[in-house]
Amino acid sequence: MMKSNSKVLIAIYFLLSATVVMGQATEPWVVPAAKKSVKNPVAVSTSVIEKGKSLYMANCKSCHGDPGKGNGLPLVPKPTDPASDKYQAQTDGEMFYKMQNGRGAMPKFAEVIPDNDKWAIIHFVRTFSKKKNSADAGKIMPDTLPAGSSFTSTSLNGKPITLKLKFNEPDSTLIATVSTLNEDGDLLPVEGVPVGFFLKRYFGSLPVGEEIGRTDKDGRIEVAVPRNLPGDTSGLLHFIARVTDPEVYGIAMDSIGASCGKPLVIVNITEERTLWGRSRVAPLYIIITFFGALAAVWGTMGYVVSNVLKIAQKDV
Ligand code: HEC
Repeated sequence: MMKSNSKVLIAIYFLLSATVVMGQATEPWVVPAAKKSVKNPVAVSTSVIEKGKSLYMANCKSCHGDPGKGNGLPLVPKPTDPASDKYQAQTDGEMFYKMQNGRGAMPKFAEVIPDNDKWAIIHFVRTFSKKKNSADAGKIMPDTLPAGSSFTSTSLNGKPITLKLKFNEPDSTLIATVSTLNEDGDLLPVEGVPVGFFLKRYFGSLPVGEEIGRTDKDGRIEVAVPRNLPGDTSGLLHFIARVTDPEVYGIAMDSIGASCGKPLVIVNITEERTLWGRSRVAPLYIIITFFGALAAVWGTMGYVVSNVLKIAQKDV
């Protein structure tokens, strides 16, 4: 009797908690209209986006996961993926209000993160908006490029970002310039973009230079290319430069071929003095040993065959 009673109690408990959980999941999180229409007061810049990114990684990623990966914690209700349409459909004001107040498992960040930093997180999260980058949605950065071609995709704050790579022969340096378009369609240099330089090899690419640097105020960054790198038969090397933080700055890469390497000399093994050599004769001792061994083997076989024939003749 006691046993079945406790079973019923446990069943009721689970039913109740399930309805509570389901109730929470469906209840929309309403933000007062006045808060909803609040605009982001912080001006957007690459450094603000960068700051927002590191704050997001430190304070939000543990539950919401990496934007676009859908790898948030399985809490109920589920912390929305910031790259999802549902998350991006919120206004900046709504996001701010929800961070400010929290609900359920979502912590209250009112006193934890300064207001300007919360707006910086919102700027970072907006870099995943499909509305801004609809043309680029789903594009991924290629691993490599044919020499002389470039690739530009996702944009910086909704504007395309471009990278141009040049090789300066006299002092053997690669120069990359990063720029973006302003409202009037003019090219403007972008400062502080991390750019990596790579040397294309048959398998993968080799970094050129010690570490990844950032563009200066003219959007320029250069790296010295060591002389005498082994190239192909004409000394041609294939370089690639790319923006190394595409999440924040967008995808841009460029590639060039430069004849600054050491030409590769192909040694033909049939040219050497080897046993199988065609143009030169094999070393004498190899020839003597080879033909000596050949004569010995055939001689022995001939001797054996002639003796067998002799035995056969005797038998008849
Ligand atoms: C401890 C886990 C946790 C952390 C850390 C966390 N969140 Fe959340 N977040 C949640 C959960 C759970 C929800 C869903 C809450 C609900 O709807 O009741 C949520 C909801 C939200 C929403 C509303 C989403 C929607 O679709 O309505 C926003 C905006 C948000 N979080 C932003 C952030 C930001 C920005 C940070 C970092 C500063 C952060 N969260 C950190 C768990 C977390």
